[in-house]
Amino acid sequence: MKRGLRLASYGVFAVSLWLTALPAAAGDPDSLAPTARWSVYTSGRAAMPPMGWSSWNAFGTDVTEARVLDSATTIVASGLAAKGYLYINIDDGWWLKRRQSDGRMQVRTAIFPSAATGGPDESSFKPFTDQIHRMGLKAGIYSDLGRNSCSQAYGGPGTPNLPEGTVAERQVGLYGHTEKDIKLYFHDWGFDFIKVDGCGVRAFGPDSGKVTSGQYQSLGPIIDFQSVNRTDVAQVKALYTEVADSLKRYNPDGDYVFSICAWGSADVRSWAKNVGNLSRTSDDITPSWGRMLTNFDSAATRALYAHPGSWNDPDMLFIGHGDFDEHHLTEARSHFALWAMISAPLIIGYDLRKAPPELMEIFGNSDLIAINQDPSGNQAVLAHETDDVQIFVKTRGDDPAHKAVAIFNRGTAPQEVVLTTDHLKYSAAADVQLKDLWTQAALPAFKGEVKLRVEPRQTLIFDARGTRALEGGTYLSETPGRVNPAVDGVVTPQADPFIHRAVSPWAGTRGRGDLPMYAGWGGAQADATPYGRNLQIAGKPYASGLGVLANSRLEVRLKGERRFTASVGVDDSTLDTTTPVIFSVFGDGKLLVQSQPLRFGSAPEQLTAEVTGYNILELVARSTAPGNAERTIVTWGNAALLN
Ligand code: GLA
Repeated sequence: MKRGLRLASYGVFAVSLWLTALPAAAGDPDSLAPTARWSVYTSGRAAMPPMGWSSWNAFGTDVTEARVLDSATTIVASGLAAKGYLYINIDDGWWLKRRQSDGRMQVRTAIFPSAATGGPDESSFKPFTDQIHRMGLKAGIYSDLGRNSCSQAYGGPGTPNLPEGTVAERQVGLYGHTEKDIKLYFHDWGFDFIKVDGCGVRAFGPDSGKVTSGQYQSLGPIIDFQSVNRTDVAQVKALYTEVADSLKRYNPDGDYVFSICAWGSADVRSWAKNVGNLSRTSDDITPSWGRMLTNFDSAATRALYAHPGSWNDPDMLFIGHGDFDEHHLTEARSHFALWAMISAPLIIGYDLRKAPPELMEIFGNSDLIAINQDPSGNQAVLAHETDDVQIFVKTRGDDPAHKAVAIFNRGTAPQEVVLTTDHLKYSAAADVQLKDLWTQAALPAFKGEVKLRVEPRQTLIFDARGTRALEGGTYLSETPGRVNPAVDGVVTPQADPFIHRAVSPWAGTRGRGDLPMYAGWGGAQADATPYGRNLQIAGKPYASGLGVLANSRLEVRLKGERRFTASVGVDDSTLDTTTPVIFSVFGDGKLLVQSQPLRFGSAPEQLTAEVTGYNILELVARSTAPGNAERTIVTWGNAALLN
């Protein structure tokens, strides 16, 4: 169906972050100036990652009301609803046309018969959403940022349920109708969730076959999927912001979820967490192992970019199909465990009417759901990363000694994995208890390290309890849900070279092969530099800390802690080895402590600040030279909050 992908570097958009160590001149929008605010999107209802079901991976555009309601019924009857699977989302295919007399959208009543309400409105989804709500569930709908949808862009000739009528009637997307459509979908029809795709601003350029055939009106393209340089990032952001504004206006009770589906293009890496509740980090998942890896990798190193209210979205679950069907339970369990660990939305994409019990058991694993739904919102952090094995650790709840750990064998040979207390940031001297969350078996307690056999493609996942290595405090890298890279210093968005490159689901081996397009490389990292290296300042390694580019501002939510400490400096992996950086710590906007100018090779400077009584801490690393084109990499080593 679609999409080669390649990202060039991002010179045109290189907004200069020229900032001196001096206060910015009046009127200068100094993005490094403290704001005393937590800027993550917290509107809507996504304090925890949304859970539910969507029609897309199950039925594509061949969706019907009966199929949706049958799955909803199964979700309730099976007990999955009681476990949190609440959103029943209709994806592409529901629409018939946009009525020309007043622009009102019409439902395809042939497949949603309850929408055939007649009267002046002709059709309405209200009976459907009423039914969903009566079942104790929530209803989701789908639209596009442009005039046209993804199925119109990429669906082949046999695609069922494409919009009908004239060119104008087939313009079913939000473009030019955002306010009216959002009012209709939320205020009038009572939906609770919307996914807004971006094909309409991507696939209908003047040269596209769709447009030259006369079937579609040209728009943009505003997104060039091949080139972020040719993407109008500001306009994409403005259009999604318009949707967010309308959602607030027509949901005075705040009961909505806004899912941004721009597949990691348009530099969503830097702004979507301020605009919506979910943001897709990659192109579509398919039911193949390699593609699952691609999608997982696109979100797995972005722990600092997921927070209560706004989550990384590596796409919906494909459990039940292909490499994740009932004959591939190891793969299906891995897919689920990995999504649970990285706080991804758990949206089932399977025809639940035919789900065998083994698959229902995976969806219903209460321990894994609890990991995903942990209110602290800490996306798991990578504690070990090779192409063969990854170890992810997630801090649970308010007790930083309570963790979940997942050990993922990505390869085709069994692995003897040594899990250490260092991975878990536990004391090596005290017992560690692990409980296997697939079998419920408690492992014998261990000290220091334990050896575990992990089968090909298997993910072991444990509840872990031990004694914290850092007494009386928490490393900030253990609680990424409380740390927000409000400004991460990325000047030149780049593709992440570590993302698994699967054979294209659409092109196969035609062409040179897809490259990861997601422009997430260089973003802030927990326990690693922005380019994935170990943290180290002037020869001193830091197993814990935050790695980020200079000209960055990290927001930290405080919860009554007493003291902040960190050893700061320019990281030994810096690309710019000459420019000094000044590190400042602010409490609710007030300067608490500041470092000397530190350059590559300078010994780390210990910063300590008393933070009692403050709500928001801001950690600012400001380069003393214009811009950061050469990229100075800085480390907040052992950054911690002490009680
Ligand atoms: C895009 C999205 C998918 C799905 C389809 C529908 O490809 O990324 O998740 O919504 O459109 O056509």
